Amino acid sequence: MARQEYLHGFDRKEQMRLLHQARFLEPYVYRGVDLEFKETLLEVGCGVGAQTEILCRRFPDLKITGVDRSDAQLAVARKILKAKLKHGQVTLREQDAQQLKLAKKDYDAAFLCWLLEHVPDPVAVLKGVRKHLRKGATIYCSEVFNQTLFLEPYSPAYLKYWFEFNDLQCSINGHPFIGAQLGHLLKEAGFVNIQTEIRPFHFDSREPEKRATFTEYFFDILLSAEDSLLASGRVDKKTIAEMKREVEVVKKAKDAVFFYAFVRATATAP
Ligand SMILES: C[S@@+](CC[C@H](N)C(=O)[O-])C[C@H]1O[C@@H](n2cnc3c(N)ncnc32)[C@H](O)[C@@H]1O
Repeated sequence: MARQEYLHGFDRKEQMRLLHQARFLEPYVYRGVDLEFKETLLEVGCGVGAQTEILCRRFPDLKITGVDRSDAQLAVARKILKAKLKHGQVTLREQDAQQLKLAKKDYDAAFLCWLLEHVPDPVAVLKGVRKHLRKGATIYCSEVFNQTLFLEPYSPAYLKYWFEFNDLQCSINGHPFIGAQLGHLLKEAGFVNIQTEIRPFHFDSREPEKRATFTEYFFDILLSAEDSLLASGRVDKKTIAEMKREVEVVKKAKDAVFFYAFVRATATAP
């Protein structure tokens, strides 16, 4: 199996970023997630429990099994979900999603968010998930499609950094454009009734505050790889300083545009 590294790292700042991100993107990620009459959910790549917390709030009757390969992430999840763990609403397991092995094989649904981009073998993950679902169960996947980023005014330092960010992720067996491949990957893994939907964030002078907020939020994602990019020599401090200046322009310029899209896929276990 291919070697796996993790682009964002596991420090406290990154863990807090994940909590903020989940709440910030909740209206976009959860549109169309219907788990109302489901009893059990398998959440793979649950990280610090940021989505788990939202899932518990939205669907209080659901019993959730969260899986992540990082003990550091699960340690935070254990704190955040303390009450839910105590009452048995949530169970956490430390496992590599590419070799998923759980006792229960008939979950009613699965939820994967920003996981497959980090995994060398996403089909292995999806096949493993399918084997743990009952016939007719739904899988929800939300994944990045980093090729879609567009900024106005033209921001060359930002785009240079973004290229290196994505190239670094490819070099460690990750998949920064995987949103576009979700339909194919789910098919390969044996799912049926596969639907994919492009979900855009498109902000311009009609919503200047949202445009600034999204530009800022997205910049935090870029900065989450700052140390790795500097250490690898892919970007220098001058590029980062210039990129910061460009971000301030995009946040304030009258004619600025922020565009990015992720992909949501749903499918059924046969
Ligand atoms: C970007 S975070 C997303 C976490 C969570 N889904 C969320 O939206 O907040 C990706 C998570 O996937 C986990 N992960 C990466 N590769 C994994 C693997 N092979 N098996 C299980 N978890 C993995 C990481 O430890 C990390 O917690």
